[in-house]
Amino acid sequence: MKVLSFGSLNFDYVYNTDHFVLPKETIIANDYHENFGGKGLNQSIALAKAGLEVYHAGRVGKDGQSFFDYLNEYNVHTDYLYKDESITTGHAIIEVHEGQNRIICYGGGNQKVDHKQIDDVLSHFEKGDLLLIQNEISSVDYLITKAHEAGMKIAFNCAPITSAILTYPLEYIDIFIVNEVEAKGITEIASDNIDDIIKALQDRYHNKEVVLTVGEQGSYYIYGDKVIHKDALKVDVVDTTAAGDTFTGYFLASYMNEHDVDKALALATKASSITVQGLGAAKSIPYYKDLI
Ligand code: RIB
Repeated sequence: MKVLSFGSLNFDYVYNTDHFVLPKETIIANDYHENFGGKGLNQSIALAKAGLEVYHAGRVGKDGQSFFDYLNEYNVHTDYLYKDESITTGHAIIEVHEGQNRIICYGGGNQKVDHKQIDDVLSHFEKGDLLLIQNEISSVDYLITKAHEAGMKIAFNCAPITSAILTYPLEYIDIFIVNEVEAKGITEIASDNIDDIIKALQDRYHNKEVVLTVGEQGSYYIYGDKVIHKDALKVDVVDTTAAGDTFTGYFLASYMNEHDVDKALALATKASSITVQGLGAAKSIPYYKDLI
């Protein structure tokens, strides 16, 4: 089984602030960092740090050469990462305050992924290979359709949630990975109650595997009537950026290798609890050897 992570790459511009900036307000940041990020890149690195061999596909602009080197540092293959000289790479403005964050993304190259690139990349994969996607690149609906036609197993981290997601061919997804906001988005329920959200996921996606993360309330694996819960770990939170990406990468890496849900949830919980204790995205994702 080959693993393809087709997703976004961003320069993350991270500002630590005393409070989140308000309308009409200008504030001075306490400090500033530039990191490599993007949900796609973070998840590729999480998969690789968890021990899987990963191919990352996506698109950077003329300023994006450093992404090849960065991914290669973690042994992520970049054969299918395209560099487009006519555009700039995506970026994210991230405000961090008391461990929480607010993120604005500018799509750049991420929004230039087209059907031709998808056809070219998928021609290197076959039935039984795993495709992991998020919702920060263009042409996700086409990617899902073509990966399904190729017989690939598809895991979809529905982040960020958009109204367009419901127009995607979600019937081809094998594993959904969502937080509570994304779960509400894909089920269209208004309730914030976790039991209601789980019920809505069971009703609408009864033949799908769903992994639901709920911050301090832990995580759930839902498949039909089966619901497995794992408590969160209590740690001092510095920055939650990439916590969900770490969870996604570690859950999938473990689950694909050992098919043990309980073990996969435990490993993903531990890994993401370490990520939140460091500032930044991909760089704060732990290695497998640091978890055992
Ligand atoms: O999930 C965290 C990521 O979201 C950041 O690295 C940022 O680039 C945005 O894509």
